[in-house]
Amino acid sequence: MKTQLHLLLSLTFLLSLSLPIVSQKHACDKASSQTTTFPFCDTSLPYQTRASDLVSRLTLQEKAQQLVNAAAGIPRLGVPPYEWWSEALHGVSNVGPGTKFNKTVPGATSFPAVILSAASFNESLWLEMGRVVSTEARSMYNVGLAGLTFWSPNVNVFRDPRWGRGQETPGEDPLVVSKYAVKYVRGLQQVGDDEEDDDDERGGRLKVSSCCKHYTAYDLDNWKGIDRFHFDAKVTKQDLEDTYQPPFKSCVEEGHVSSVMCSYNRVNGIPTCADPDLLQGVVRDQWDLDGYIVSDCDSVQVFYETIKYTPTPEDAVALALKAGLNMNCGNYLGRYTVNAVKLNKVDVSIVDQALVYNYIVLMRLGFFDDPESLPFANLGPSDVCTQSNQQLALEAAKQGIVLLENKGSLPLSKFNTKKLALIGPNANATTVMISNYAGIPCRYTSPLQGLRKYESGLSYAAGCRDVKCRDQSLIAGAVKVAANSDVVVLVVGLDQSVEAEGLDRVNLTLPGFQEKLVKDVAGATNGIVILVIMAAGPIDISFIQSISNIGGILWVGYPGQDGGDAIAQVIFGDYNPGGRSPFTWYPQSYVDQVPMTDMNMRANSSRNYPGRTYRFYTGKPLYPFGHGLSYSSFSTFIAAAPSTIFVQSNSTASSLAFINHDELDDQSLYEGEALDASTLNCLDLTFLLVVGVKNNGPQYDGSHVVLVFWEPAGWEKIGGGGAPVSQLVAFERVEVEVGEVEFVTVKINVCQELSVVDGEGKRKVVIGKHTVLVGSPSEAQVKHQIDVRVSASGNGEGFMSN
Ligand SMILES: *[C@@H]1O[C@H](CO)[C@@H](O)[C@H](O)[C@H]1NC(C)=O
Ligand SMILES: *[C@@H]1O[C@H](CO)[C@@H](O)[C@H](O)[C@H]1NC(C)=O
Ligand SMILES: *[C@@H]1O[C@H](CO)[C@@H](O)[C@H](O)[C@H]1NC(C)=O
Ligand SMILES: *[C@@H]1O[C@H](CO)[C@@H](O)[C@H](O)[C@H]1NC(C)=O
Ligand SMILES: *[C@@H]1O[C@H](CO)[C@@H](O)[C@H](O)[C@H]1NC(C)=O
Ligand SMILES: *[C@@H]1O[C@H](CO)[C@@H](O)[C@H](O)[C@H]1NC(C)=O
Repeated sequence: MKTQLHLLLSLTFLLSLSLPIVSQKHACDKASSQTTTFPFCDTSLPYQTRASDLVSRLTLQEKAQQLVNAAAGIPRLGVPPYEWWSEALHGVSNVGPGTKFNKTVPGATSFPAVILSAASFNESLWLEMGRVVSTEARSMYNVGLAGLTFWSPNVNVFRDPRWGRGQETPGEDPLVVSKYAVKYVRGLQQVGDDEEDDDDERGGRLKVSSCCKHYTAYDLDNWKGIDRFHFDAKVTKQDLEDTYQPPFKSCVEEGHVSSVMCSYNRVNGIPTCADPDLLQGVVRDQWDLDGYIVSDCDSVQVFYETIKYTPTPEDAVALALKAGLNMNCGNYLGRYTVNAVKLNKVDVSIVDQALVYNYIVLMRLGFFDDPESLPFANLGPSDVCTQSNQQLALEAAKQGIVLLENKGSLPLSKFNTKKLALIGPNANATTVMISNYAGIPCRYTSPLQGLRKYESGLSYAAGCRDVKCRDQSLIAGAVKVAANSDVVVLVVGLDQSVEAEGLDRVNLTLPGFQEKLVKDVAGATNGIVILVIMAAGPIDISFIQSISNIGGILWVGYPGQDGGDAIAQVIFGDYNPGGRSPFTWYPQSYVDQVPMTDMNMRANSSRNYPGRTYRFYTGKPLYPFGHGLSYSSFSTFIAAAPSTIFVQSNSTASSLAFINHDELDDQSLYEGEALDASTLNCLDLTFLLVVGVKNNGPQYDGSHVVLVFWEPAGWEKIGGGGAPVSQLVAFERVEVEVGEVEFVTVKINVCQELSVVDGEGKRKVVIGKHTVLVGSPSEAQVKHQIDVRVSASGNGEGFMSN
């Protein structure tokens, strides 16, 4: 019996291998066209040659029709239409027209909102999520339900706590956002399993194509009547270099992303999709994008029609193409490119170049190949929503959940459960949990369902009709339920009616009567309240300080399809929480003081401006960036680190503005002086930091996130000032059993991580005593000093000493 089953299984396996299920239309189809003899179909030629051959065969009319997301195709050459717009922010999504669900594939694995997965600080999780999502995407493509080009992830820095799309991002820290971008993009794009296989990713085959968006300094949707279409972000060179650009740079240079999307807003007066410096200059020439640049949907139309940036639509199209745009989400390039060329506003060679970039990506994806020859030909509906894929979505939620406070009440005991009540407007959340840019999930497990698995007899009350909680009529019922309970799990928070695309928040407080609900329920119960905050952005919950029986607080973001299981497993101790807040929890007074439109990261005391994010904020947060507790107590120590680093300066470089050129030796640079990082041999300036992590128990094994911060030396002396108060330079999540010690090794590059950016946007390495701190400001930080010193060219071999 057992053997037979085994045989049957392997037979099915073989069958599925030998019968590819690809039913998508593709170019160079032997069955339906006579074109397979053209060079563009010849798979032995380089992509560049094939793409140029194809483009050389098109009329101007035909060319224009391929520059838009709904590309018309070229029937006479056997190139079918292609819809470029699909999305896969945290699971295959049906937001773009390129992807649909039907009975063949009724749903796909829906991971938590990115802001929660980011809180795991676990790079291997992010990579694995990308792999699962691309497997499901490719499976859906094979049966005609999805595209191959996915305009995800969103790597804008979560600059302001009110931003409605903060939920889509990996948080406020440029390093975390960069690392997330690199891992998720690689997970989506890489064909092989070998993460370090560069040949595979740069210029080679793609599993699916990914896109880093929205380039750049885009993080305002609609705040007090100012919308993203009209907003002109005034950004300093300093902030651009060390806050807004790094995620995009990493995404292109390290993630090898095959697309970048320009945004709706202007940056310093110029629409990003019309800015030759930002597109051609930086993305194409400096970072060397191997892929295409696409506009946000209708943003070319927007800069003509909404802000009248150009006199005619033809000028808008010509400006965008000349700036380096290759593909238009929308239809402007389809409608006006022919005329723009005829009017000599743009040369056809620029159109050709754009098409070549686009077609190379489609070729790398296999759109011009025999589909049965592709590595993913065997994927199909049975590869979507598999048990293991869904397990990973649950895992991501558990790894991300942040334990903000615990007075010893958590975890709740599974065995002598007291009378449990579940209350709150998000207590029975389903669609709320999958956030925006979602698809149809495989299933939902609401908090109510999740907690019922532990306590089937729990009582439930919503307490508010919805998260806006505009009237208090349901509070009395909730109070009654609370009065009959010993433990209340109270799930408050937000949803897409409060924070969303096109909708920024005005306040950081809980909406409507939710605060009253918390107070009344806490006052009514005989026991304790566990407060669960289901929301993306931070909420000012300082009112809880007057409530003595709040036993614990969890932030759960928007936790995805099985969020209810994740919450229940954390509350009942089947999972020991280890997530860390990927953003600062500001008080309400912050948003009263700071206009959302102010893009400055740096504090400025002369105008009473408190600065943004943990790197620059001078006020006192409710919880700092990186905060998060565990059911175990961990301690850390530095096991190995250099105490002095000799930087070999390049004495011939002219830009050593801070150096006395007369006597360039160890004595010539003083604390606070700086070397231009571009004149240093940065590759050699990497050192290792080894951190020991001990789990002191008492009871639970668990994961600890090692956060390594840096405080620059003598930074006030740097030109223009404005170095960060502190900055995350490395992180790593590690599992440690009770009583055990694990070691974590992180790599830190002096030029990249221990440098400050001056007022001109130039990176400088500061000479002097730098401080490295292990741990977030809310835990016991271990400090270590590193003395960065200069050694003149020629006499420095080793650069470190202990
Ligand atoms: C779902 O859509 C695909 C692509 O259009 C089609 O091939 C398939 O037959 C559809 N499935 C059902 C059950 O309608
Ligand atoms: C919870 O939500 C589900 C799905 O919206 C609904 O069917 C169910 O009736 C709700 N449960 C309660 C107790 O309100
Ligand atoms: C924000 O808070 C203020 C003061 O509490 C209140 O008047 C206003 O209605 C709130 N706005 C929103 C959109 O909730
Ligand atoms: C701080 O604000 C003042 C007043 O607006 C301005 O003059 C000054 O340049 C600002 N300082 C910096 C470093 O941006
Ligand atoms: C030193 O500076 C010169 C002149 O700017 C430059 O050509 C050279 O590449 C630099 N060397 C290093 C190691 O950066
Ligand atoms: C990181 O995520 C991966 C994938 O889910 C998991 O196997 C691993 O245990 C996680 N690491 C830690 C330290 O939690």
